[in-house]
Amino acid sequence: MPLPLDPHAFHRIVFFTGAGLSAESGLPTYRGKGGVWPRTDFRRYACQDAFERDPEQVWEFHLARRERMGAAQPSQAHAHIAHLARSHPCVTVVTQNIDGLHQRAGCTDVVELHGSIWRVRCPCTAVPRLDPQGPPGSRRCPGCAGWLRPDIVWFGDRLDESVWRAATRAIQACDLFVSIGTSAAVMPAAALPELARRVGATTLEINPEETPNSALYDLHLRQDATPGLRAALQP
Ligand code: OAD
Repeated sequence: MPLPLDPHAFHRIVFFTGAGLSAESGLPTYRGKGGVWPRTDFRRYACQDAFERDPEQVWEFHLARRERMGAAQPSQAHAHIAHLARSHPCVTVVTQNIDGLHQRAGCTDVVELHGSIWRVRCPCTAVPRLDPQGPPGSRRCPGCAGWLRPDIVWFGDRLDESVWRAATRAIQACDLFVSIGTSAAVMPAAALPELARRVGATTLEINPEETPNSALYDLHLRQDATPGLRAALQP
């Protein structure tokens, strides 16, 4: 199939996005040069054990990330996807990003596989809600008085089942699956391109680098997100 694709030739489109998409908004990716994990020990900042040992330290780390994410602006790639979502009857974004930039660009149907830095939850109810502002010490659950934690997926956490179901439902129904800026390093999210392939969707990967999932895609664009999207999808 030659590029560019006409998005309106497809009934249901899923964009599957990762940190590479928000790199164009100035946010660091997780892996590779300048990434979050090569310079941050996740065992101290991004797992439940660390949170139980030192919630204030874990909160400080996440508040710093949140400040950076809040200061970032949606990129032209976020805007391109949002524009398409407005002009096409069925576009779902399944993202691993926690920064909320898809929504700020205007997307409404967004499945956040790894949660959101803008919400908190408590194990006593597990119901996420918007984060109350204030210093880390003010983040106590009104129900049980325990620490509220960021509503994001840390190492060792399970994904929320209803979120996972929403993602797989959208992908099972899609006929075009576009992956942008993900290294395919983290399960179970990395299994989703295989699902798209099994249901017969046309699959496209936009990433300047090859990934362990590259062989699963029908089409590849070895470009950054914005030029890649422009080259890949044109009505
Ligand atoms: P990674 O940091 O693992 O991968 C980022 C990908 O984006 C790489 O494949 C890069 O080649 C690509 N990339 C970099 N710049 C790009 C650009 N301008 N345009 C397009 N692509 C670009 O990030 P994720 O795959 O999102 O999970 O990581 C998956 C999960 O691992 C994250 O959600 C996070 C992390 O641990 C949790 O925190 C639970």
